[in-house]
Amino acid sequence: MLEVRDLHVKFNNRDREAVGGISFRIGAGEILGLVGESGSGKTVTAMSIAGLLPRKQCSYSGDILLDGQDLLHADRSLLRKLHGREIGVVFQEPMSAMNPLMRIGEQVGEVLRIHTDLSKAERKEKVLRAMTSVELHDPEHLYDCYPHELSGGMLQRVMIAAAIVIEPSLLLLDEPTTALDVTIQAQILELLKKLNSELGISMLFISHNLNVVRKLCARVAVMQRGLLVETGETDQVFYHPQHPYTRQLIDAIPTRERRVR
Ligand SMILES: Nc1ncnc2c1ncn2[C@@H]1O[C@H](COP(=O)(O)OP(=O)(O)OP(=O)(O)O)[C@@H](O)[C@H]1O
Ligand SMILES: [Mg+2]
Repeated sequence: MLEVRDLHVKFNNRDREAVGGISFRIGAGEILGLVGESGSGKTVTAMSIAGLLPRKQCSYSGDILLDGQDLLHADRSLLRKLHGREIGVVFQEPMSAMNPLMRIGEQVGEVLRIHTDLSKAERKEKVLRAMTSVELHDPEHLYDCYPHELSGGMLQRVMIAAAIVIEPSLLLLDEPTTALDVTIQAQILELLKKLNSELGISMLFISHNLNVVRKLCARVAVMQRGLLVETGETDQVFYHPQHPYTRQLIDAIPTRERRVR
């Protein structure tokens, strides 16, 4: 469903390419993990897919195809349509991604207001259903709350609800659990698994933590300095890493978490 071919991105104010020619695919209903150290180009890759590259400040080439339709070179209005409807995005800091002055329910339903002609009542029904499916309790009450009234874990669920409310075919998750404590992080991973198996949403899951990726993703791509150094079945990569950099990433996992090896 998503195919990235030889993607290059270079920011004008940088000498080195942020993304130096990467190719990968995400099949329908698949979760691909993307791991790599800070600055390796993971977020720039996600931004390219999400149509969020600052086009004037960089040069880019390659193809990004979503069900055969080119995203990288598409014009803005088509992009906006595709991105609202087909691609949902969840980033790391839920608080900074939300409007503090807007009620939770309105924020989750915003994408429906922009991209569908559903009535207000129909939108509210869908919003409540999305909030229920991300296991937010008492959605009727939360609907009228403001972001500051919710915990970080709840806000991250709200962000996921907002990303899935329109039932996109692809979800981009950029370190969606990094800011959360370990217990909440595990709950969010379970939730993503459930959404994937129940709704069949494909996902790109970005993390610098290979151990987190292992819990969620059947396949993983390992990124270093703008390039993919290794791609494969997660277990295969985890137990039989081929590239020295992948081995380093695995060795960086604390021993307690690595004990199963
Ligand atoms: N708007 C920008 N202008 C110039 N350079 C940028 C811009 N955005 C990202 N970069 C550079 O592109 C490279 C890749 O950055 P990117 O944010 O994709 O890394 P990352 O793998 O997501 O890292 P992290 O794990 O810290 O989130 C870095 O060298 C970064 O400094
Ligand atoms: Mg990043």
